[in-house]
Amino acid sequence: MDYIYSSMLSQKRRDYLIKLAQSIKQMMPSSLYMHSMGTFKCAQSLGRAYILEKEGQKKGMGPFFKLCISSILHDYGKIYTYEDLLDIIEKNHIQLTGFEKKCKPILHSLVGGFLVERDFHITDSQILKAIRCHTVGCIKMGVVDKILFVSDKIEETRDYASVGQLRKIALHSLDRCLKEVYKNNMIYNIERNKLLHPKTSVIWNNMCGGR
Ligand SMILES: [Fe+2]
Repeated sequence: MDYIYSSMLSQKRRDYLIKLAQSIKQMMPSSLYMHSMGTFKCAQSLGRAYILEKEGQKKGMGPFFKLCISSILHDYGKIYTYEDLLDIIEKNHIQLTGFEKKCKPILHSLVGGFLVERDFHITDSQILKAIRCHTVGCIKMGVVDKILFVSDKIEETRDYASVGQLRKIALHSLDRCLKEVYKNNMIYNIERNKLLHPKTSVIWNNMCGGR
């Protein structure tokens, strides 16, 4: 499988990632699968720079592997229709606000953690959190959350005016890139009169050093 860049992953871990990718390939339309694999590739590059090279292999390999898993599965919730997701929320008593239930574009991530746990038996809180917060973000984003958030927006199949610039920034500073990507998202939504999650301004203020 040519999507796995890191030769540092053990064979067992590589086999597991291949299995996950093969599973979603069966379930997703090809464009969503290509986006998932693009996100996985981008996350590996950023993970190498911002986790493995910073933390060292011994300490960094665990979070790096979790990043790989969350990047492959981050859009798994998109295979379900909006109505299906509402039904899953209802039947499983998933605690979401009325606003979140109405907000179609983010629902796949908010329910994604539950679905990945249910269907892939993944219980790791870091993986599930990264999947849950890859659309809106969250106040205390760890390095896995940040890389998944950014990779989702700048991976190779994304094509919008500022993506080239964002990819360059990602090579120099993950935090700066996250901030730019987050800003772009807000502007995109505002310009189209789309909703902003109430937490967006709190997350943005936090990124800008406000508390
Ligand atoms: Fe995505």
